[in-house]
Amino acid sequence: MNILRNIIGGFCLAAMASCGGSQDGAQSATSSAQSSEYPNATIETIMQRRSIRKYKPQPVGRDTLMQIAKCGINAPNAMNRQSWEVRIVDNAETMEKIKALMAEGKEGEDAERAKGCFRGAPVMTFIARDRESDFAAYDCALLAENMMIAAQSLGVGSICLGSPVSFINSASNSEEILQILGFSPEYKLCLCVGLGYADEAPEARERDAEKVKFVD
Ligand SMILES: Cc1cc2nc3c(=O)[nH]c(=O)nc-3n(C[C@H](O)[C@H](O)[C@H](O)COP(=O)(O)O)c2cc1C
Repeated sequence: MNILRNIIGGFCLAAMASCGGSQDGAQSATSSAQSSEYPNATIETIMQRRSIRKYKPQPVGRDTLMQIAKCGINAPNAMNRQSWEVRIVDNAETMEKIKALMAEGKEGEDAERAKGCFRGAPVMTFIARDRESDFAAYDCALLAENMMIAAQSLGVGSICLGSPVSFINSASNSEEILQILGFSPEYKLCLCVGLGYADEAPEARERDAEKVKFVD
């Protein structure tokens, strides 16, 4: 388990090393690593990240968002094709417009669920994958994870979201919603990452260490 953690930690450390410091006041969540139970700040950041579903209204500055996004695009990706496109919506009006269109594109209970699927995150990152690349979904997932770990290191909460993707891609007005985001025609919405300052500190959900086995 420790080996696995170190490998994951190594990837994330490399990504974060190329990101530099924050210019708009985001906190470093990893500065207390010296005194923590973890062997280094990267592992502490990984182990302390949790999905956040309750956020403060406080906006996240664009320097911080750009830094998080840069960590995203420094993720490993198949043949360095970078088969992703990222759209960051930090404007409440635009987000409300997207939610209203999503509700319009659904009926009854689904319309309400569509509006709530962003989990209250004040910033929403929409990630699209190149339809032509077999590995694009993996690339996007790695990008998303780098973003969430970078966010955690800066004191910004995050959540990976699949349900907005299902709602948008299956909505009767899907094209209209996607037009706002302006992805290239060969790209398809794949994943969302919500960002914002956390207003909760959830406990870690249990992990099954039995899923990992050494083979001799
Ligand atoms: C691909 C993917 C899709 C997810 N979709 C949603 C979602 O639609 N809504 C939600 O509340 N959480 C979603 N999550 C978050 C998971 O529920 C969460 O990561 C998991 O329960 C483990 O909790 P933790 O992130 O706090 O460790 C998603 C996570 C992943 C990786």
